[in-house]
Amino acid sequence: MSVSGTIGAAVTETAARLGAAGIEEARREARLLVALALDADPAIVLGYPERPLESAARRRLDGLVARRAAREPVSRLRGHREFWSLDFLLSPETLDPRADSETLIDAALDLLPDPAAPRRVIDFGTGSGCLLLALLSEWPLATGIGVDRSWGAALTARRNAARLGVADRARFVVGDWDAAFGGMADVIVANPPYIATEDIIALDPEVARFEPRAALDGGPDGLAAYRVLVRAAARLLTPDGVVLFEVGAGQAAAVATLAEAAGLSSCAIRRDLAGIERCLAFVRRS
Ligand SMILES: C[S@@+](CC[C@H](N)C(=O)[O-])C[C@H]1O[C@@H](n2cnc3c(N)ncnc32)[C@H](O)[C@@H]1O
Repeated sequence: MSVSGTIGAAVTETAARLGAAGIEEARREARLLVALALDADPAIVLGYPERPLESAARRRLDGLVARRAAREPVSRLRGHREFWSLDFLLSPETLDPRADSETLIDAALDLLPDPAAPRRVIDFGTGSGCLLLALLSEWPLATGIGVDRSWGAALTARRNAARLGVADRARFVVGDWDAAFGGMADVIVANPPYIATEDIIALDPEVARFEPRAALDGGPDGLAAYRVLVRAAARLLTPDGVVLFEVGAGQAAAVATLAEAAGLSSCAIRRDLAGIERCLAFVRRS
C-alpha cells in the first residue's frame, strides 16, 4: 500500500487550499472532501486523524479540491443531495434541490391532508424529480408526471424514481411546460426558473457557473415561466385541485397578480425558514 501522509494532515492541507480559494467554512468542507476521497463517513475523518491516507485517495482528493476551488458545490462533487429526507442523484442538467423548496411539500401536505387519496400530480420543471417524488413518497396511491424540457433532467428524475421505489407511479416527459398536456391534475407543483436574466451573473459562482442555465433564467423580469404556468394550471386543474408555485424573494405579489388574472384564487402563502414568502397556492376560481 502506497501512503501519502495522514488523514489529519490531509484535512489541514485541504482546508488551507480551500481557504486560499475563498471558500468559507474551509475546515468543515475539507473534512467532507477527505471523506469523499476515502468514500467514508465524515465521522471517520474526525475520529481517526492518525490513519494513513493511501496514494489513490490522495489523488482523488487532489481532483476534488481542484474542482471545489473552482467553486463546484460539494453536492455536485458527491453527485447526490438529500431532499425531504430522500436521496436524489444529480446530473449537470438538474438543479441542486434546495431546502427552501421543501416549503412546497409542507404546504401540499397541509392543504391536502388525506394521504390515501388517489391523486394525479403534475410537476412542471421537474429537474431531479424532487418535488414529484417527495409527494409520491407521502401519498402511496398518487401517480404523477414530471415535465422538463431537458432530456438529461428527465432521465435523472426517472433514475431517482426507480431508486426511491416509485417508478411504477411516476412518468417523465420531455417538453415545453404544458404543451403536450390534455388531461387534468389534482395537484400541480412547479419550481420554475425565476431569476431575472441580468441578475444571474451576480449570483454566487456555485450557482451561476454550475446550475443549468435553464433552471435559473426566468427571462427579463424573472416571471416568464409563471405567465405560462398560471394559464396551464387554470386549464389543467380539477375543480378541487390545488397548484403550488415556488417563487423567488419579492416575487409573491407579482405572481399572485398573474394567477388571479388567469382565473386562479389564492388559498395559501407559505414562508421558508428565512421568513421569505416562498410558496403560493391557488385553486381554480369557481
Ligand atoms: C428551478 S429548476 C427546478 C427543478 C426541481 N423541480 C427542483 O425544485 O429542484 C426549473 C426546471 O425547469 C426546467 N424548465 C425550464 N424551462 C422549461 C420549459 N419551457 N418547459 C419545461 N421545463 C422547463 C429546467 O430544465 C429545470 O429543470
